[in-house]
Amino acid sequence: MTLHLFSSRINHRRFLVVPALLALLLSLAPEFALALAPPARTEAATVAATPPGAVISSGHRLATEAGLQILAEGGNAFDAAVAVSSTLSVVEPISSGLGGGGFFLLHDARTGKDVMLDAREYAPESATPAAFLDKNGELDRDRSVNGPWSAGIPGLPAALVELAGKHGRLPLAQSLAPSIRIARDGFPVYARMAKGYQSRREVMERYPGTRAVYLRNGKPIAEGDIFRQPELAHTLELLASKGFDGFYRGETARKLLKGVKQAGGRWTAEELAGYRVKQRTPLSFDYHGWKITTAPPPSSGGIALVEMLQILEPWKLEELDEAHRIHLVVEAMRRAYRDRTFFLGDPDFVDMPLAVLASRDYAQGLRATIHPDKATPSDLLSGKPTPLEDDETTHFSIIDAQGNRVGATQTVNLLYGSGLIPAGTGVLLNNEMDDFALKPGTPNAFGVMGYEANAPKAGKRMLSSMTPTFMESPDRVVVLGTPGGSRIITMVLLGILGYDAGLSPQQVSALPRYHHQWLPDVISAESGAFSTQVADALKAMGHEVDLPGDTAAGGRGSSHVWGSLQTVMWDRKAGTLSGGSDPRNPVAEARVVEQASP
Ligand code: DON
Repeated sequence: MTLHLFSSRINHRRFLVVPALLALLLSLAPEFALALAPPARTEAATVAATPPGAVISSGHRLATEAGLQILAEGGNAFDAAVAVSSTLSVVEPISSGLGGGGFFLLHDARTGKDVMLDAREYAPESATPAAFLDKNGELDRDRSVNGPWSAGIPGLPAALVELAGKHGRLPLAQSLAPSIRIARDGFPVYARMAKGYQSRREVMERYPGTRAVYLRNGKPIAEGDIFRQPELAHTLELLASKGFDGFYRGETARKLLKGVKQAGGRWTAEELAGYRVKQRTPLSFDYHGWKITTAPPPSSGGIALVEMLQILEPWKLEELDEAHRIHLVVEAMRRAYRDRTFFLGDPDFVDMPLAVLASRDYAQGLRATIHPDKATPSDLLSGKPTPLEDDETTHFSIIDAQGNRVGATQTVNLLYGSGLIPAGTGVLLNNEMDDFALKPGTPNAFGVMGYEANAPKAGKRMLSSMTPTFMESPDRVVVLGTPGGSRIITMVLLGILGYDAGLSPQQVSALPRYHHQWLPDVISAESGAFSTQVADALKAMGHEVDLPGDTAAGGRGSSHVWGSLQTVMWDRKAGTLSGGSDPRNPVAEARVVEQASP
């Protein structure tokens, strides 16, 4: 039974609209009968026990190389993940880093077990909801995304320690060596990095620690410059030699606390030393013969994927015309994002009806509310457009020669995070606090909002959209994920549908994208994601469509492309490995190497 979910847990006007809306739609569409027999399952085939080598796809060529180097030195996928993650932290400060966090989805080939390391940041005690309101009671946008108040306690360094200590074969120091070298010797600044700096320049240059890293004789970094970060190299060295204490206690911790304080924020030594990576059990479910393994809360991605895929499951999408296919996928997206808004948060703080949300009965109820060719109006309250940030956060995917897998999405949230580097650390702090519902019902930088489930509280992790995911069929094993804020989940959904339709990793990375997140009630699409005829057909069904280049779009504006989907696949039947790196990111690279199973 579906509707009991919409009872009175959260007393908000919009929430109460939902049962009425569902009832209305049910009465509008009783005859809707797209439900067809579930697709045939793939026959079990003779498959190889181990891959013929290894494959890594990441957002930067140097990070892919660092991971391959560690594999060549005898490391496994988890050691390689330490090298890739820490190198991305050095070469993509725009996207992620030691001052941020991430989710690391791991598959251990020996035990067959999957686990997700939750290295999400948490709120310091000072971060009460009131701390983020201005004197008129409105969300203080500067505080929520810039400087010390926007930063949660970082989780990424703890994840590196955990990966090496509990899952890897090599010492942490060995796997960190490539990133330390690159931080010290430097690497060439690429276009995205220089352009991103320009857009965050005003904030970055508020802080002396950041100026010291990014300005040379008063001039900011420019494309082609060699960017050296000796202080970050030193911080990484302390992590390499002392492990957890090298970052969360002692010299680095003291500098972090001092830098946050000088910038006007409040963190405590206990909050840093108390950080712990959490081992979460991933969500796992079947879709069209694939076993999907994905991120549980505090990611909203997994639950949204279960909901969307279970809504779509019985429909033969490939037999529909394009507009109707997009319509149905969008209606599934709309419903999953509505639930994200009200129910999801940190599982250690919030009671969530996860079993219900993930159930096929619930999906069936939602499916029944979808009209075959009419858009369901979302309850329009906020007309705020989804902002256009694109280049933040990063994802990498690894399969090693034993069949171990890592799918990791890591982030400092928006471009260059909070902009604050506590002096002497080289560590750019995140602005992840904006992922909380700092003011109930007020959209954040990605236009998504929330209520009590995602309210900030000391020690609580902010809800995320990061969705590292595995797919496994009798003959194929896939790792995928992407950055893109609230659009991450819909990109992963389209990626899963793409693999299910038989696409290769490179085709999946390149797939055109569209997105709906319940509110704002608009389908945003990449340029060329579909034709203006399809856009017109969707509009005729009642959808608002923002297709760049479509002059009738109404001026909402969305970026032309988004995401950076890095994915790898092992075809066990063909005995091949392949990788897909997103053509939208010119420095991303996927590489396969031949390697005997160690
Ligand atoms: O955890 C989240 O959902 C966000 N902080 C991710 C941010 C992101 O992907 C930005 N990329 N465009």
